[in-house]
Amino acid sequence: MEVMSDAAGSATGDGIVLSGIEQLFRTKDQEVLALTEIDLTISAGEFLVLLGPSGCGKTTLLRIIAGLQQPTNGSVEVGGNSLWRNASRNDAVMAELGVVFQEANLFPWMTIEDNIALPLKLRGVGKSERRKRARELCEMVGITGFEKRWPRELSGGMRQRAAIARALSCRPKILLMDEPFGALDAMTRDQMNSELQRIWMDSGCTVILVTHSIREAVFLADRVLLLSPRPGRMDTIRDIPIARPRDIYVQSMAEFQEIETELRRRLDTFGETTDEGSGS
Ligand SMILES: Nc1ncnc2c1ncn2[C@@H]1O[C@H](COP(=O)(O)OP(=O)(O)O)[C@@H](O)[C@H]1O
Ligand SMILES: [Mg+2]
Repeated sequence: MEVMSDAAGSATGDGIVLSGIEQLFRTKDQEVLALTEIDLTISAGEFLVLLGPSGCGKTTLLRIIAGLQQPTNGSVEVGGNSLWRNASRNDAVMAELGVVFQEANLFPWMTIEDNIALPLKLRGVGKSERRKRARELCEMVGITGFEKRWPRELSGGMRQRAAIARALSCRPKILLMDEPFGALDAMTRDQMNSELQRIWMDSGCTVILVTHSIREAVFLADRVLLLSPRPGRMDTIRDIPIARPRDIYVQSMAEFQEIETELRRRLDTFGETTDEGSGS
């Protein structure tokens, strides 16, 4: 693996440690090795972006970190605690995670406020406290005034803001996002990237975000992990030493473009088209 980084995986006590992760999928008539030899430490508070060609195992790796998939081999530790003990999942670790997928997956029969506060309700938080917290979260993600609306009344970008608010409702230490802005138009996406950066800087949580937009990766990340085509291996770790907060104009800086080109060249060697926003 190539490490274009000064401090790849500097360990901290609160970080996430992936050791020897391997994922083999067995279907009726074939075996698919989706991921192999994933060894990585993600520092507390870091913004890590997973980048790679379609089918290289990005979603699988995120699902493994989210505890939604037990890896065939290897371990996931969060803050020194193993996510799995044999076949049983450590729910105390799960409680520190918030997850956002490409589709907002809001319940259509619940108001935005009730959707956002659902994780709190499931934890027994009372109604007035839930409402207060939902208001704060709506303000944080920029949808104040839409608390009583139905999901269908919101644009795609606003629904995704609500999904982020819901993921943040229980103040997770780790926010996991799988192509959260993949279905949005380019302008909305740029705006969401800026806002996500702000939310992350305000909350201090660790973010692991999957994308196949190189530009989005360079804009958001402290480090980019580029995975190789299947079976996904750690191909490149790239530090992004651009000062924060970053505004959209950093995209026209020479430093930004050099990093973008470097990653694009590497992805091109995999035979991946690098059209922004294509594929899945
Ligand atoms: N539950 C599953 N059963 C069998 N194969 C799977 C399963 N999930 C993912 N795969 C396969 O593993 C590989 C990686 O998939 P995925 O993690 O979704 O890639 P990415 O998100 O990078 O596009 C693909 O070849 C996919 O078909
Ligand atoms: Mg995926």
